[in-house]
Amino acid sequence: TTLNHPLPWCICKSSDCMEFANVIVEKDNSVAVLTLNRPQQLNALSYDLVKDLSLAMQELDRDDGVRVMIVTGGEKVFAAGADIKEMAERGPFDARIQERLAYRDRINHIAKPVIAAVSGFALGGGCELAMSCDIIIASETARFGQPEVNLGIIPGSGGTQRLTRTLGKYRAMEMVLAGETMSAADAERLGLVNHVVPVEVLLDEAKNLAKKIAAKPILAVKAAKEAVLRSANTALDEGLEFERKSFYLLFASEDRQEGMRAFLEKRKPDFKGR
Ligand code: CAA
Repeated sequence: TTLNHPLPWCICKSSDCMEFANVIVEKDNSVAVLTLNRPQQLNALSYDLVKDLSLAMQELDRDDGVRVMIVTGGEKVFAAGADIKEMAERGPFDARIQERLAYRDRINHIAKPVIAAVSGFALGGGCELAMSCDIIIASETARFGQPEVNLGIIPGSGGTQRLTRTLGKYRAMEMVLAGETMSAADAERLGLVNHVVPVEVLLDEAKNLAKKIAAKPILAVKAAKEAVLRSANTALDEGLEFERKSFYLLFASEDRQEGMRAFLEKRKPDFKGR
């Protein structure tokens, strides 16, 4: 890179690099951990933070050395939603709001698996960010909610849609209309989170799961993620057809041959990501 990045964790090589002032990126072999880093503002999702997160995740999605990403806010708070100070001054068709959401939407199109490690509040855009991830591990202190109604708005990054698909109409309505928050235990019971663990082990648990997934053949992992996500947007027949085509396609991969051979030869497979 020709850019001079003062921050050692900056991995961005693009010309519009923000140096990731708002997101800390750490790589642990094939697992990348992205930590939202605006603790004084409870990780409120400002334009700059969303841009940093989005660019970082896209860069990691291109990085062959990385197989799984973890998004976390640290132990105290995941994210208290969009930055209300920033939004307060904006009009309905403000380009900056639209651009922020365009950066936000890119996160929905990350091909590699993304695990959310949620501790403390995940509210508004924070809850939506967690729901955009593929797996949610929560600490016992996590609280999920869509309190936008208290501000005279509604969720804008998928809350009404993803929450309804996950919890069903009635629970989703209560959260969105009354702005009620939900405990980690309730979220686990209702299928909004995969596992609830003590806060001290949250990141380790997320990393353990990430490493397990990272050891799998990446082409199959990406195809599986794509097929599962596809189910939200398609009728069953169409979804089954998409699945079948991806299934056939994977027969063209070297890792498929290796996986099956290794099973028959009773040895560990050596996957190459091809
Ligand atoms: N935006 C900007 N700043 C925020 C913020 C937010 N969403 N949430 C918290 N902060 C700031 C506070 O203003 C405060 O800053 P100062 O110290 O400068 O006053 C600091 O973070 C600490 O917050 P609190 O003093 O309020 O902390 P608390 O522990 O008493 O309460 C809380 C925590 C319940 C999460 C409370 O901060 C809160 O209700 N925050 C707002 C939550 C919310 O409404 N989120 C939805 C935003 S809209 C949205 O997200 C829409 C979308 O995606 C499209």
